[in-house]
Amino acid sequence: MFPVAPGNLEKALQGIRALGIAGCNITIPYKIEAMKFMDWIDPLAERIGAINTVVVQANGELHGFNTDGFGYVQSLRDANPQWRADLGPVVIVGAGGAARSIIVSMINEGARDIRIINRTMSKAQDLAEEFGNTVNAVDWADRHNVLNDAALLTNTTSQGMVNEPALDLNIRQLPKSALVSDVIYAPLETPLLTQAKKQGNTTVNGLGMLIHQARPAFHAWFGVMPDCTQELNQKIINTF
Ligand code: ATR
Repeated sequence: MFPVAPGNLEKALQGIRALGIAGCNITIPYKIEAMKFMDWIDPLAERIGAINTVVVQANGELHGFNTDGFGYVQSLRDANPQWRADLGPVVIVGAGGAARSIIVSMINEGARDIRIINRTMSKAQDLAEEFGNTVNAVDWADRHNVLNDAALLTNTTSQGMVNEPALDLNIRQLPKSALVSDVIYAPLETPLLTQAKKQGNTTVNGLGMLIHQARPAFHAWFGVMPDCTQELNQKIINTF
């Protein structure tokens, strides 16, 4: 990992080209700013509005990709191989970068009803406007009442993370058939997931998304698509 000081991002990215490195991942807080320094950006990453993967081309060009949505969908399929985005309403809590990558991947996977719940309503409305008819903003005050027919609930906010309070969401109305996911991986089981498990829902933590988003990046750099095994999961958990 290379921590990059604010103001040094362009130099850091030029550096990977100069060093002959195959590429790198980009994480918070540079997923948006790094786009400025790419020679080409994949259309999916353009749509999401952020990159998490840089691939240095043979001619030295820097190409930007976003594999977060791929990682997220794969993590759902690990939990339920039959999962499909059109099984029923998808409820997303949060309207930041993680929410954007999930919205785009849900649309691409064929979701027909995506509900965005966000503390700041205007951000949810902006997303609804940008992504069209299938995406609707829900008032924060109504958040507990839009879950009764959901097929997927996902938390993309920081609420439930280590040192943060639990997400303030009452999930009693959620059907047992709904998949409940959290992009958080520290802790591996957030209070939202604990509650969902208690109610009998299948849960998905953020570790799967973290691991699966790395696979296409590794493939782009080295030509090999690594498998995501239980052993690898455990190795990563042991580093926490
Ligand atoms: P990321 O890129 O990881 O998605 P982000 O862009 O900072 O991170 O977005 C964080 C999300 O968590 C936002 O949707 C934020 O809500 P606001 O738009 O209202 O800020 C949400 N969030 C952060 N703290 C929150 C809290 N205490 N209660 C509810 N939502 C919260």
